[in-house]
Amino acid sequence: MTSRTVAQLLSDDISLQEVEVKGWVRTFRADRFIALNDGSTINNIQCVVDFENTDESILKRITTGAAVHIKGALVESQGKGQKVEIQVNDIEILGDSDPKEYPIQPKKHTFEFLRDNAHLRTRTNTFSAVMRLRSSLSFAIHKYFNDNGFYYMHTPFITGSDAEGAGEMFRVSTLDPKNPPLTEEGEVDYKEDFFGKETNLTVSGQLEAETYAMSLGKVYTFGPTFRAENSNTSRHLAEFWMIEPEVAFMDLAGNMDLAEDFMKSVISYVLEHNKEDLEFLDERLAKEEEKLPQAQRSPMGLIEKLKFVVDNHFKRVSYTEAIDILRNSKPNKKKKFDYIIEEWGADLQSEHERFLVEKHFKCPVILFDYPANIKAFYMRLNEDGKTVRAMDILFPGIGEIIGGSQREERLEVLKEKMAALDIPEEELWWYLDLRKYGTAVHSGFGLGLERLVMFATGMSNIRDVIPYPRTPQNAEF
Ligand code: 4AD
Ligand code: MG
Repeated sequence: MTSRTVAQLLSDDISLQEVEVKGWVRTFRADRFIALNDGSTINNIQCVVDFENTDESILKRITTGAAVHIKGALVESQGKGQKVEIQVNDIEILGDSDPKEYPIQPKKHTFEFLRDNAHLRTRTNTFSAVMRLRSSLSFAIHKYFNDNGFYYMHTPFITGSDAEGAGEMFRVSTLDPKNPPLTEEGEVDYKEDFFGKETNLTVSGQLEAETYAMSLGKVYTFGPTFRAENSNTSRHLAEFWMIEPEVAFMDLAGNMDLAEDFMKSVISYVLEHNKEDLEFLDERLAKEEEKLPQAQRSPMGLIEKLKFVVDNHFKRVSYTEAIDILRNSKPNKKKKFDYIIEEWGADLQSEHERFLVEKHFKCPVILFDYPANIKAFYMRLNEDGKTVRAMDILFPGIGEIIGGSQREERLEVLKEKMAALDIPEEELWWYLDLRKYGTAVHSGFGLGLERLVMFATGMSNIRDVIPYPRTPQNAEF
């Protein structure tokens, strides 16, 4: 007989019969009731052991965390709390788990403790639910693009360019750090390095995605992205996954439409396919919020918030309007913001973004037409000569979740911008070629997968939505 998953055993489709199942013991009560989980669902199946006819030596080895193989009869449950249960005929201990040492005890652990045990934390309800949602969201993202005629392209991890111009890059080198070859001027000679030039891990696949959009039309990348920004916040990782669509002949308005439709589609997907996990996380969040003072509680539950995003238009607001709102806002006037907004041109901090979304508009917001000098070199300059066709999407509880723009398609304007920022043309000759041969309006955006997973699960720290977070001073596992 083949083993079935717990999800199959608990589904309505299965008839009462002899079954087999393998999984890990969550709890073992009264020498009789095993709560068994195998990761296929948030729910456990109850397995009732006939303790009178089971060896004492076996009973002792049924401990939290042990892997077991159970054979028995699927029957209607006599107890409350579950429809069916297994009456165990045979139990084999596949792998013991010493109850004195196993870190994941059946009690509440702090997220900090579980981060230190990240290799075992998906044996808890919260983390298994979060990671199943992460998987579903990833699938929904691929499905959306596939259904809408996009090609999935793989952009390189190792590159010679700094797409975002922020200089937050991890160097890739095989030179001996103790004794690197030097140039006559005494600088490290990267000509001698593996690639014959300085290289780094990618901060974005956008520039390469643009090259493919300008031949294949609609493309997207979805891969790991690396940023050496030393910001130890609950929203930044040094290694995260970014989704970057890029579309030829699409302007900024089209880009906003695409981003909004895309976000609604992937969130709808998990509302439909991850009901039990979302219900669990919704309850978890509600319990957490009960501990907070009334004023800090969010006005909506998790599922309600996801439905709200799917059902409502994202508010589109220009940077200039947003600055006016912020300048006249209470926290700005009463100097409650850490960064007081005084003039047009100020970069927005997450406190400002969250004010706009959570307090002022109370819905997702798309900010567009930012000042050129706070945005990347590749963004399309507006006719006013001082703003660019950038857009950031801001979500409640998260702040910036998407950053994108219409790209500068005019060769001369792009060259001027690069010169102003000291970006050598030789480095991006291929990027400039796109503007020489059949240039056209085109646009795209980047979504940080982890920020989306945070939003969809209600988790408040980005370290808890990626299996093995990489942050400053931390690359364990
Ligand atoms: O706004 P960013 O820097 O935009 C780009 O990289 C563009 N090249 C995207 C494009 O137009 N193709 O990053 C895009 C998104 C952010 O909105 C955020 O969700 C996420 O990537 N992100 C991070 N997520 C986790 N940790 C970090 N350190 C992140 N930096 C950016
Ligand atoms: Mg950004």
